[in-house]
Amino acid sequence: MKRVMIVTGGGDCPGLNAVIRAIVKRASQEKDWEVIGSIQAFNGVLWEPSELKVLTTEVVKGIHFQGGTILETTNKGGPFAWPVKNKDGTWTTIDRSDEMIRKIQYLGIDAVINIGGDGSQRISQALYEKGLNIIGVPKTIDNDLSSTDSTFGFQTAVEISTEAVDKLVTTAASHNRVFVMEVMGRYAGWIALNAAVAGGAEVCLVPEFPYDIDIVKQKLEARFKRGRGFAVVIASEGAKPKDGEMVYEENTEVGYENLKLGGIASALIKQLKKAGFEPDMRETVLGHLQRGGVPIAYDRVLAAQLGVKAFEMVLNEDFGKMVAYRHPYFVAVPLLEAVAKPNLLTLDNALVKTARGLGISLGIDREVELKK
Ligand code: F6P
Repeated sequence: MKRVMIVTGGGDCPGLNAVIRAIVKRASQEKDWEVIGSIQAFNGVLWEPSELKVLTTEVVKGIHFQGGTILETTNKGGPFAWPVKNKDGTWTTIDRSDEMIRKIQYLGIDAVINIGGDGSQRISQALYEKGLNIIGVPKTIDNDLSSTDSTFGFQTAVEISTEAVDKLVTTAASHNRVFVMEVMGRYAGWIALNAAVAGGAEVCLVPEFPYDIDIVKQKLEARFKRGRGFAVVIASEGAKPKDGEMVYEENTEVGYENLKLGGIASALIKQLKKAGFEPDMRETVLGHLQRGGVPIAYDRVLAAQLGVKAFEMVLNEDFGKMVAYRHPYFVAVPLLEAVAKPNLLTLDNALVKTARGLGISLGIDREVELKK
């Protein structure tokens, strides 16, 4: 009997269950393969007693359209930074990776498929360097991995954001208001820009292009005549003014190493008021609504393709690699290459040009906007 263990790590994302199901279904076509799931990323292995779940075709029946992950997930701690409480009540982290690898071997697990974003795939690479047979599957609603054309969950997040813009437009028009809608994306503006183009926003602010509040104000003022008009601004959570910082919360969660971004919508409204913008403004923060619920068909298909390919990479012993979508193929790219650089918006990106062609302001210098 051979065993492959599935791990879902980092923030959850619509389509995770579709990947799990695809791996299990593909594995069931081979003789003598058992699929195991580790609960809550690698914690299932690290906990005493361990929490592992045998994943049969019966267990994964019908889960392809369920949101979240049946294996649970976490974006804190992990084998290299396991949180431990000191006697004085403070926390520290320890490296438990060697112990975890020994345990995986003791459990008779031949290979691991780690479904996660850039942070998780960095862990995959580090474990691979220590001798673990591991394969990565890219996951993030942010679409910020450069080695794959797209990541599952992203299109679902865009769909949810676009539906929200559609709703905000009608109430904005009724009340002659400006709505600032804050979306996720971390340091990448893909969700924001796609929703802005699909939903028809007037302004889209993204982390890659620090904005000028006066340009945002002028664009919005042009939408109002004698106090009447409306507009929708989409602000990516990592957006920042050209002379300022991203908005984030002080982090108090043990083992959580990411910046807790959030608050740009309300900060922007304050900046606009300070700059003298008069119409009514309201904010909407979509938050985790973008990550919850069922994956749209596109993401289910992408997830299924990634899952099947990942298991085939296990069969081929193609370890230390991540499955990537490079249209029209699914290829194996070395994990090192996969996490080398993030996928960020650039001024010459086709979607950025389209947004400008539609008259969507990015809140940046007009000269720069017109030259590109
Ligand atoms: O990376 C995915 C993501 O949803 C980001 O867009 C967001 O900043 C972050 O995760 C939120 O993470 P958490 O689940 O810790 O709130």
